[in-house]
Amino acid sequence: MKVLGIYGSPRRGGNTELLLKELLRGCREAGAEVEEVFLRDLKISPCLEIYACKKDGKCPIKDDMQSLYERLIEADALALASPVFFYAVSAHTKAFIDRCQAMWAKKYLLKQPISPGKPQRKGVFLSVGGSKGSKVFDGSLLTMKYFYDALDATLYRSLLYQNIDAQGDILQHPTAMAEAYALGKELVKESSE
Ligand SMILES: Cc1cc2nc3c(=O)[nH]c(=O)nc-3n(C[C@H](O)[C@H](O)[C@H](O)COP(=O)(O)O)c2cc1C
Repeated sequence: MKVLGIYGSPRRGGNTELLLKELLRGCREAGAEVEEVFLRDLKISPCLEIYACKKDGKCPIKDDMQSLYERLIEADALALASPVFFYAVSAHTKAFIDRCQAMWAKKYLLKQPISPGKPQRKGVFLSVGGSKGSKVFDGSLLTMKYFYDALDATLYRSLLYQNIDAQGDILQHPTAMAEAYALGKELVKESSE
């Protein structure tokens, strides 16, 4: 059972990174093999709307995204972490998600399965925002719902924390790290059944 963890923050050692590391620790403890991807270390162009993917479900842009498509297909469960930037996911995360339009085209235009044999994959989302606004996560949650759908997965659960701004603030939160660890274990258990 393979879990793919995708880090979407540009900040090294930031709050979402700490959360996702803890979630993946839970996944390993539950017996999963874990693979980690740091989007900030990769060269990923935004989608250029070439729409070659309408023909074969493949994106022709030759950059680091090419190595990610296979890993997205092979994963049994997925976990993505991004901070809130202007009421949305980070730019690194959005560029990566937009490049999954190739998978959307494969699924909805070409009517082909994305991950054959694994139609019910589960994905989780971890996010933090510096403010206390009531709609802080609304934009990201919609994006994540449709991102996972394009990958033949469902948004199983999200952990969202507000008023978390400076690097490492999340460590002072009374429950966040324990919740992330527990969700990692749960994700593996629920994905194995
Ligand atoms: C460009 C930028 C935009 C941001 N926009 C928001 C926002 O709209 N709402 C919010 O609550 N926090 C916002 N923040 C604060 C971050 O979400 C917050 O600092 C978070 O803890 C960063 O997480 P990280 O350490 O994982 O990168 C923004 C920060 C940056 C740098």
